[in-house]
Order: sequence, then C-alpha cells, then structure tokens
Amino acid sequence: MKYLLMLLTLVFVSCNSATNSKTSPSNDIGGEVDQNIEKMKNKVIIITGASSGIGEACAMAYAQKGSKIVLAARNLEKLKAVEQKIIATGSEVIAVRCDVSISQDCENLIEQTVAKFGAIDVLINNAGLLINKPITSMLDMDFDRIFDINVKSAFRLIRDLLPYLNSGAHVVNISSMGGVQGSSKFPGLSLYSASKGALAVLTECIAEELAEQRVFVNALALGAVQTEMLAQAFPGYQAPLQPNEMAGFIADFAKNGHRFFNGKILPVSLSTP
Ligand SMILES: NC(=O)c1ccc[n+]([C@@H]2O[C@H](COP(=O)([O-])OP(=O)(O)OC[C@H]3O[C@@H](n4cnc5c(N)ncnc54)[C@H](OP(=O)(O)O)[C@@H]3O)[C@@H](O)[C@H]2O)c1
Repeated sequence: MKYLLMLLTLVFVSCNSATNSKTSPSNDIGGEVDQNIEKMKNKVIIITGASSGIGEACAMAYAQKGSKIVLAARNLEKLKAVEQKIIATGSEVIAVRCDVSISQDCENLIEQTVAKFGAIDVLINNAGLLINKPITSMLDMDFDRIFDINVKSAFRLIRDLLPYLNSGAHVVNISSMGGVQGSSKFPGLSLYSASKGALAVLTECIAEELAEQRVFVNALALGAVQTEMLAQAFPGYQAPLQPNEMAGFIADFAKNGHRFFNGKILPVSLSTP
C-alpha cells in the first residue's frame, strides 16, 4: 500500500510539472472553448480598419470573448457605431480616429491604447486600400497612398508599439492572395497586389527580428470575402465567405496561431479570386 501511494504521488507530481514546464508563446492557450473565452478576457487587442468589413467583424468576434478592444479607422462615426455594439456585449472598448498613413495619428492611437489598457497582446493590421485601375492610369500618388496604407502603416505600428507589446504578443498582418507569388493575378490590381506582397515579406523579416523578444508575426493572405472592397475589385462577384466567417478564423488565429506559426504567410482562401 505504501509503495502504491508513493507511485501515485510520483505520477501526480510528474504530470503537474510536465504541464507547468510546457513552453508556449503565451499563457492563454486553452483546449476547451470555455477556457479559451476565459483566457481571452482582458487581453488587449488593437484592430485597424475596424469601421467596416472584416475589421469590424473581427472586433465583434473579440467582443464575444470579453477582450479589451481598440478600434482604429478614419471614419469616427462608423467606429462609434461599432463601439456601441461592443459596449452592449459588456466588453471594454475604445474607438480612436486614426488614419494609419499619418504618423501623428498612429502615435495618438498608441498613447490612447496604453493610457486606457496598458500593454497589448494582439495587433491586427487590417486597414487596407485598394485602387482598381490599369497600370497606365496609375499615378505616382496612387503608388504612395497604397503603399503608405497597406505596408508602411504596419511597419510603423509594429515598430512603435514594440515597447508596449506583452511577451508572447501576436501581430497578424492581413495580406491577400493577390500578394502571393505565383497566385492568379487580375488586371487593375497591380499596386494593391504588389503592396500585399510587400506586406508578406515584411512579415517574414520582422518575425525573424522580434523572435528573441517573443513577439510573433504572421500574415494571412485572404481570398475573397464579401465586403465593400471586394465589390470594388470584382463588381458583381459573389464571394464564398461573409466578413463574420472570415473574422472568426482571424480572431482564433490571432489568439492561438503563434503556437504553430511565426513569420509565415498563410493562404486563407476558398476561391479564385
Ligand atoms: N474582402 C476581401 O475579399 C479581401 C481579400 C483579401 C484581403 N483583404 C484585406 O482585408 C482587409 C479588410 O478589408 P475589407 O475587405 O474588410 O474592406 P473594407 O470593408 O473596405 O474595410 C477596409 C477598412 O480599412 C479602413 N481604412 C482604409 N484606409 C485607412 C486608413 N488610411 N487608415 C485607417 N483605416 C483605413 C477602412 O476604414 P475607414 O474608411 O473608416 O478609414 C475600413 O475599415 C484589407 O487589408 C484588405 O486588403 C480583403
């Protein structure tokens, strides 16, 4: 009997220490849905481009998890409407008017986030601009605008948020299938696709640099989702996914994906386009 008790004690201690010594990008990894919801409570999430489409849907997905949410976009009226919907769920939220191509706006976004919530766990660089024009009609300023919003803003936000990112934080950059080398390309989307390709390579590079600090950076190369931007790129096309469906995937990936991926570009697509 004495030996049986010793054996049981040993098994219990070794199971416990195995669980505790597991290394994972963050402490919020849970198996069960309820556990996951519990562990996303109080996590601080910044979502750019949160006034509509996929960004708004991501914000609502996090509201269901009880996270602390920072909404950023240019249209404050739309942001405030999203903010009200989130407040109704009981989650904490702030809406910050921010043009991600303007450095002072980004500084203000960071200041307001840190003042309200402290350190950040998840940044979703989702704000995006699409210009649908043949290359012969594209202007220099179109190039600058599209790269400022789709690439430079992600670089700037990651760099300037770094001191405030928790160990184990996850940055998710929203790229596009158009930015994946070798994927189908479409007339009119040259600069948009090139910018999304640049964002993907930037993701790989920054992930490498930040690995030691345990900040994880991945890009999701999205396929078609039914939003205003899709209608602009492919008028009349019916996408196989609605924003809330894609947002559910993005929110789960931003929460857990850095256990399995870092510096990766993951295609998330059911269709072409
Ligand atoms: N829908 C698709 O099929 C698809 C496919 C691949 C990738 N994506 C990517 O998914 C992301 C979300 O797009 P969506 O489809 O949801 O389109 P959307 O409904 O048009 O949303 C775009 C969002 O970006 C914001 N935004 C644009 N310029 C901004 C700026 N300068 N500063 C701050 N926010 C800005 C917009 O808000 P304000 O106008 O209020 O600023 C809006 O909230 C984009 O990065 C897009 O490239 C979408």
